[in-house]
Amino acid sequence: MVGRAKIAVIGAGNVGATCALWIVSQQLGDVVLVDIPQMESATRGKALDLYECAPVRRFDCTVTGTADYADIAGADVVVLTAGVPRKPGMSRDDLIKTNVAIVRSVSEQIAAHAPGSIVIVVSNPLDAMVYTAWKVTGFPTSRIVGQAGCLDMARFKAFIAEETGFSVEDISTLLLGGHGDDMVPLPRFTNISGIPVTEFMSAERLDELVERAKQGGGEIVELLGTSAYYAPAAAVTQMVEAIVRDKKRILPCAGYCDGQYGIDGLFVGVPCVLGAGGMERILEVNLEAGEQELLTSSAAHVRELVQVVQRQYPELA
Ligand code: NAI
Ligand code: 2OP
Repeated sequence: MVGRAKIAVIGAGNVGATCALWIVSQQLGDVVLVDIPQMESATRGKALDLYECAPVRRFDCTVTGTADYADIAGADVVVLTAGVPRKPGMSRDDLIKTNVAIVRSVSEQIAAHAPGSIVIVVSNPLDAMVYTAWKVTGFPTSRIVGQAGCLDMARFKAFIAEETGFSVEDISTLLLGGHGDDMVPLPRFTNISGIPVTEFMSAERLDELVERAKQGGGEIVELLGTSAYYAPAAAVTQMVEAIVRDKKRILPCAGYCDGQYGIDGLFVGVPCVLGAGGMERILEVNLEAGEQELLTSSAAHVRELVQVVQRQYPELA
């Protein structure tokens, strides 16, 4: 790509605006923030406020706010955060009816105005919303991917760092499955500078951290009154960076499974290679029977959510 990348962020709320902040701070590209017409003034205001950080934070990327989808023309990457977040007492699944309508209409706009873009879906319930964006845009599966695993993995790593006192940089792990409470963190693939994490804590304590990671979204909702946005936006930015810098990173993302791990025709969290081509490929690692069982059950839950989408919009079947 010649010059700076162009990154459109749809939905200029908590996650979207924070994504814009991280993206320009890391000089990943020019950001166009898009929201609904009723929010146009606020969106332009947020964008201007962010751009005025540039001399202090020393980035040359621009940030603009708009309600006009024509402004996303030529975007290399589109981050789709439009949708309602959950409130205390709600699950991600409770958002489906409202958010599928929003994601459907936004996806039509993306297909019309940024047909060559790579789309990172963030709206919840995540795996079903990625499916929706894929069906509506008709983009190849390499150009549609969902963010969930980078966030869930970051939470698990943060809890391990806090528990052991070691640097977050030295913690490595893997997490599979849908972005629900049945996500599958994998202790067997978790180490600190190559040393198995079980050398540093009991199996019982590790189980508690796995459970906390699985409930990590809900923990923030209960504290904050709305859903998390700093860590989610950081996770999105990690994916944007991998794409615009063609890093070939292996990151857990909701990628389209076409038989991998026994999952067919669904977007579910799996280890993906992210680079200039988007979701370039899925890595299949050998799972133990218990791990595969958890992943299969998580994927079955994602399938139920996709069926809810298909009942609401039969043309998306
Ligand atoms: P928010 O309410 O702060 O922002 C959402 C924004 O979307 C609002 O500004 C709203 O006006 C806008 N919007 C609604 N309909 C739109 C449309 N048709 N076109 C353009 N913009 C539209 O919500 P927040 O906290 O930013 O969360 C956004 C979504 O991301 C929620 O569905 C939430 O559940 C999800 N989420 C997903 C995470 C993940 O890991 N996948 C993590 C955190 C949030
Ligand atoms: C989270 O896990 C709400 O999905 C979002 O924080």
